[in-house]
Amino acid sequence: MRAAMASAKVGDNVLEHDPTMRELEERVAELLGKPAALWTPSGTMANVIALSLHLQRGDRYLATDGAHVLTDEQGSGAWLAGGMPHALPWDAGPGRPSVATLTRAVEGAGDVPYYGLRTRLLCLENTHTNAGGAVVPPHEHAQLVAVAQEAGLAVHLDGARVWNASVALGVPPAALTVGTDTVTACLSKGLGAPVGSVVAGSEEFVKRARRMRQMLGGGVRQGGVLAAAALCALDNIDALAMDHANARRLATGLAELGWEVDEPQTNIVLARVSDVPNTMKVLTELGILALSGGGRIRFVTHRDVSESDIDTVLERLADASHRRVLHPPHTAQAG
Ligand SMILES: Cc1ncc(COP(=O)(O)O)c(C=O)c1O
Repeated sequence: MRAAMASAKVGDNVLEHDPTMRELEERVAELLGKPAALWTPSGTMANVIALSLHLQRGDRYLATDGAHVLTDEQGSGAWLAGGMPHALPWDAGPGRPSVATLTRAVEGAGDVPYYGLRTRLLCLENTHTNAGGAVVPPHEHAQLVAVAQEAGLAVHLDGARVWNASVALGVPPAALTVGTDTVTACLSKGLGAPVGSVVAGSEEFVKRARRMRQMLGGGVRQGGVLAAAALCALDNIDALAMDHANARRLATGLAELGWEVDEPQTNIVLARVSDVPNTMKVLTELGILALSGGGRIRFVTHRDVSESDIDTVLERLADASHRRVLHPPHTAQAG
């Protein structure tokens, strides 16, 4: 990847003269089954561009509870795009609203009542990060999209990790974007590019998105250096299966040590612990990197974590349990 970056052909990407960036955007658009795609420095910028172009001030947008656009983007859907967020519960499974819930949420969306909000957009997320990398299968995706379209809503898919969903389900990424107007996908994260995401949609959408990216300060000059890295990253899609296997290995090992873990569907393992700060402290002391939030510890596997690294993590945790630093295993002992 570093070698490809060093030898990348470049041009001024703000003026659309960068050949490597063009190649990347065309390749990703095809993978996502959309006519066009635009590189952005981050998934967060890709999402806010999409929301800003779908919404007008005061429009309501629907998203699954805990969606990145609701909880992890500093409120940009409201602050910058002017939307009124509405969370849909996970009543069909982790990270997945049911068709009945969505049907109720879009009731009357086509009318513009005197007092009510206009509902204009449905945001789906696949995989759903805060649901532990949970996947939305194509048939459920299709049903949700159909309800939204029937009600006149646009559909945006936050597919930051759509590659993981595609590998886990054994379907091409484009099968998971069917019916959506716009899609975000990340080239960093599991695929391993140092920087970069895309937002994909119609040619007309991407033209407008390019202007908005410039407004947000996301236009880069010789972007081909970054696009070259992203092109290498796209060769890594199939290898995500190893991350998924490592996540399962970690979850199984944690469960054997007495941790309360969800069965991972992709590369994220969520563990519920009763004393998050102390558990995090112990993990740090053991040299194990993880994130915490909502009473849970989040472990993520990726291409820099090998099967033997997972075994090392489990050995260190077993040893910590043995020394009663973690007691009972899923709870760090106070003091
Ligand atoms: C579902 C989802 N969307 C968007 C993003 C934002 O991507 P970035 O960190 O590149 O801004 C993330 C980041 O973790 C994510 O999980």
